[in-house]
Amino acid sequence: MKGIVLSGGSGTRLYPMTRAANKQLLPVYNKPMVYYPLSTLMLAGCREILLVVNPQDEASYRRLFGDGRQWGLAIDYAVQPTPGGIAEVFLVGRRFIGGDRVGLILGDNMFYGDALPAMAERGMRGQGAVIYAYWVSDPRAYGVVEFDAGGRPVGIVEKPEAPRSNWAVTGLYFYDADVCDIAAGLPRSGRGELEITDVNARYLKEGRLSVEKMGRGYAWLDTGTPSSLLRAAQFVETVEDRQGLQIGCPEEVAWRKGYIDDSGLAELIEPIRDSEYGKYLQRLLARG
Ligand code: DAU
Repeated sequence: MKGIVLSGGSGTRLYPMTRAANKQLLPVYNKPMVYYPLSTLMLAGCREILLVVNPQDEASYRRLFGDGRQWGLAIDYAVQPTPGGIAEVFLVGRRFIGGDRVGLILGDNMFYGDALPAMAERGMRGQGAVIYAYWVSDPRAYGVVEFDAGGRPVGIVEKPEAPRSNWAVTGLYFYDADVCDIAAGLPRSGRGELEITDVNARYLKEGRLSVEKMGRGYAWLDTGTPSSLLRAAQFVETVEDRQGLQIGCPEEVAWRKGYIDDSGLAELIEPIRDSEYGKYLQRLLARG
């Protein structure tokens, strides 16, 4: 199954942290931000992954992930020349998608919840477009979905000044292969971008959009400002410290899903055995 992690963007709201480093390479507590969304796609069953990155960051991402074989994945890279909108991913990723269904996750989106794998698997196996809505106190910074009395989606608007609901669209999406032609036919928005909300609005108009509500048992965390980035890190630290289990650890997901075996995990541990991360992986291997 195929998945795309969109990991470009300009990261201007986090300046100067993003002056020399791409936003999604910044740490969230103990790992790079992009580990979290990548792990989410892996939990959904995606093993063929396309990383869409800025030209100047490609080398860093290649250093971080290589070809993915160490985690039982096939990771490839595509360059987005300038940040022209989330839906551009379907232009630069067209060859990767081919005729297949594809998952897309934004590299700055963090999800947490034990029903997440099943929820994402439903999206992967679904028809048309499947997106997720999450109740937030202030949805004005997001795509916002409006539902009718029967719970069916009837409208979707990007960053509305007067939102018609509190249901924000998260950065996890699943589409059939038609998405490439839909994105290619879109006009640019007022901010000069190919908007993912326009893609979703088109599926809605055609009656081919499913919106699953993510309930209160999930956490969907924002990393867009210095404060929200710190809060996301504190969330991860709090849960990991309490449970002794890591959030967003691709080595663990690969091992638990059987993408790598015990000896594959042992090989990954060897060069990092003295780090906290390496010790965590050693405990997994010893205790399961
Ligand atoms: O996080 C969910 C929200 O993401 C949705 O509710 C919105 O509908 C959607 O438009 C998007 O809104 P943002 O304003 O948060 O998107 P942003 O421009 O911050 O980009 C999100 C991520 O995608 C970010 O990590 C960088 C990456 N990106 C973005 C653009 C526009 C790229 O790699 N290339 C791009 O051209």
